[in-house]
Amino acid sequence: MNGHYTQATFPELDVYAETERSKQRTKVKVLPSADVLDTLAGASAVKATILDPWYNKGIGGERADYNDWLAAVIRSACRISEHVFVWGFPDILAYQVAKIPEGFKLIAWLTWYYKNCPSVIRGWRSAQNACLHLAMDGATVYPEHFLSIDQLERWKAGKMRFVPGPPTVLEAPLNIGFVGRNEQTGHPAQKPLSVIEPLLLMSTRANDTVLDPMCGSGTTGEAALRLHRHAILCDDSSTYLTITRKRIAAYQNQVNG
Ligand SMILES: C[S@@+](CC[C@H](N)C(=O)[O-])C[C@H]1O[C@@H](n2cnc3c(N)ncnc32)[C@H](O)[C@@H]1O
Repeated sequence: MNGHYTQATFPELDVYAETERSKQRTKVKVLPSADVLDTLAGASAVKATILDPWYNKGIGGERADYNDWLAAVIRSACRISEHVFVWGFPDILAYQVAKIPEGFKLIAWLTWYYKNCPSVIRGWRSAQNACLHLAMDGATVYPEHFLSIDQLERWKAGKMRFVPGPPTVLEAPLNIGFVGRNEQTGHPAQKPLSVIEPLLLMSTRANDTVLDPMCGSGTTGEAALRLHRHAILCDDSSTYLTITRKRIAAYQNQVNG
């Protein structure tokens, strides 16, 4: 890994939130707005990176070079991360499976299944998003993070023949209308915390750092704080970064009182 994040690269860290729980301090840095490729080029090594770009349709518009652009973003993320998660619609991610950078492999094709997307076209109604879990050869995964307390004790005592992992289909409703009201921030493509948290649990331990260079409303930041991981967040929209800062500050106040 050849990350080289320096203060000179990002001179103004405008939010540095901390929460304290069980004597652990977890920190979220929200960087000034920047393009994803610049953020990745200037980043130091992290345990996991979440990539959740616009989907090349609808909001965010379309770009003719989308597949090549996303492949370049994934390559750049793989240079600094042990685990990389890439969100998108299945037709977009199918192209990326053939382009996985050397030294990385596809650990899982995850599906987020939601039932509550309104019909906007005549025909099939969208009910899924996909997420590729890529990992460096030899990277550790932590299925034990999904065990109950009883199971964990049996696992630690060596009494479990295998660790039952979580399913590759994450079922959670879209946060729209009255659903997920207390999570909603106004960002038009915000993911529920419940689809980001499993990614962090599988790929990181407490105090590891996760990077989200297209963080939108900052879901990865709040998920990281809830799970005692550190996060570095950025987006090319200063409007969305304002939403992120407010969200992180609100969570900080809620926890610290
Ligand atoms: C699908 S949304 C991410 C939503 C986020 N996961 C959440 O839960 O709020 C995509 C985000 O990527 C950002 N984005 C798109 N292209 C970008 C680029 N080239 N550099 C940095 N951010 C970008 C957009 O501003 C948008 O906030």
